[in-house]
Amino acid sequence: MAYDDIYSRVKDYFGSEPTGIVREHYTRIDKKRPVLDIGTGQGRNAFFLARKGYIVDAIDPSRVAIDTVANIAEKENLPISANQCGFENFIPLTDFYSAILLIGLIQILSWTEINILLKNISTWTSRGSLIFVTAFTVEDPSYEKTVADFRKIGNNSFEKDKKQVHTYLEPGEILTLFRNYKVVYHNEGLGAEHYHGDRPAHRHGMVEAVFLKTDKGEYIIE
Ligand SMILES: C[S@@+](CC[C@H](N)C(=O)[O-])C[C@H]1O[C@@H](n2cnc3c(N)ncnc32)[C@H](O)[C@@H]1O
Repeated sequence: MAYDDIYSRVKDYFGSEPTGIVREHYTRIDKKRPVLDIGTGQGRNAFFLARKGYIVDAIDPSRVAIDTVANIAEKENLPISANQCGFENFIPLTDFYSAILLIGLIQILSWTEINILLKNISTWTSRGSLIFVTAFTVEDPSYEKTVADFRKIGNNSFEKDKKQVHTYLEPGEILTLFRNYKVVYHNEGLGAEHYHGDRPAHRHGMVEAVFLKTDKGEYIIE
């Protein structure tokens, strides 16, 4: 898989620091329950939380990602359980999670996959659970090039060579996807300049949000 290749070549491809919303809002997470990091990658957010004393289940289909996270967790004796699987096949190791991280995941999923993800999250959370999410929006500088080079498969969703998917959210669309949750934090705009390995510096059109599940926080099948 493409991420295996990227993670084998580049250490800390997405950086070693946790995502801004995780660093700024993690103290709201209930420590008594584990956190689920879906699409953990090289584990920057899982490590941050585990070093703060949270128990973390980290999942990712990339073998290299999961080996990396498991090795570091073992060396540092961190409470992280790393599982090689996607959210489609994952069987939770607990009744529900105190928080679920979706950092940089939605933008690589099709709408069919996003709907499965939202349904699973609804099942894996309970009242008081938090959802941390970042995703690309149609303001992302890559949007026009994707429209030109990829095949359209859904609303602002595109695919190339049957393996690479880019999906961009419209302004405020994240609030519709999580309309049954309470908004703790929501911001949209151009993110900070950053690098991936030796690629040129760039910025993304992003949405960042933190949602709180309330009694009403059930996924509605339409
Ligand atoms: C853009 S990376 C973000 C990695 C990490 N969350 C971070 O911010 O550093 C997206 C990650 O999602 C993973 N991924 C792709 N499809 C997935 C799926 N179906 N279930 C869980 N993770 C998936 C990829 O392997 C990749 O590691």
